[in-house]
Formats: sequence, C-alpha cells, structure tokens
Amino acid sequence: MKKIMMIAVATLALAVAGFGADAKAGGAAFDKSCKGCHGATGAGNPAIAKMLSVTIPDLGSAEVQGKADGDLAKVISEGKGKMKPVKSVNADDVVAFLRTLKK
Ligand code: HEC
Repeated sequence: MKKIMMIAVATLALAVAGFGADAKAGGAAFDKSCKGCHGATGAGNPAIAKMLSVTIPDLGSAEVQGKADGDLAKVISEGKGKMKPVKSVNADDVVAFLRTLKK
C-alpha cells in the first residue's frame, strides 16, 4: 500500500513538473518582455549591458541554470540589481522556457 502511494505521489510530481508550466507560452513572453536585454538565446544584449554598465548573466549558463525554479521566478517577479520586476508575465511559464536555454 505504501509503495502504491509513493508511486502515485511520484507520478503526480512528474505531471506537475512536466505540464504545470507552459514553456511555449513562456517563450512568447520572453520574446516580448526579456529579449531586449537578454537576447534571443539568453546570452545578453551587449548594448544594454554597456548602457546599464552591468554584466548581464548568460541565462543558459551553469550558474543561472543551477538556481532553483523558485529563485528564478523571484528574479522575474521582484527584479534583481538593475533588472526591474517584470509583472506582466507568468513567471512559472517563463522559468520553464529558461530551462530550454540550458547549454
Ligand atoms: C532592462 C533590461 C532587462 C529586462 C527587460 C530583463 N532583464 Fe533579466 N537581468 C537584467 C540584468 C541587468 C540582470 C543582472 C542583474 C544583477 O545581477 O544585478 C538580469 C538578471 C537576470 C537573471 C539572472 C539572475 C541571477 O540571479 O543570476 C535572470 C534569470 C533574468 N534576468 C531573467 C529575466 C527574464 C525572464 C526577463 C523577462 C521576464 C528579464 N530578465 C527581463 C536585465 C533585464
């Protein structure tokens, strides 16, 4: 019985992780709200980095990808350093898209 419960919980967790967030919708939101600064591939827009005199981290890098989903969502909804909060997007969907940028 306990084993069946564990399998049920694991299946549910997978379903939530796999289908809870919409990477495709997140990609569209990224194009609209993030690409200007972060570039289509997440590598960063050098002109914006220069203008803000800040280093824009490569979103596909091990450093950024090593962060938890919740931390990335928080950067989106609360901002970080020179990046202002982006409230117009579904942060979970955008995080799902960010995972596709992983190198
Ligand atoms: C005005 C330009 C700008 C826009 C628009 C912008 N960002 Fe950023 N982003 C930055 C800058 C600058 C940093 C570096 C902040 C710092 O570390 O001081 C950053 C950092 C990040 C980081 C890395 C945070 C970390 O902890 O290393 C993530 C993830 C990120 N942005 C995602 C996004 C997403 C997703 C969007 C769109 C919803 C977005 N950004 C929109 C400029 C921008």
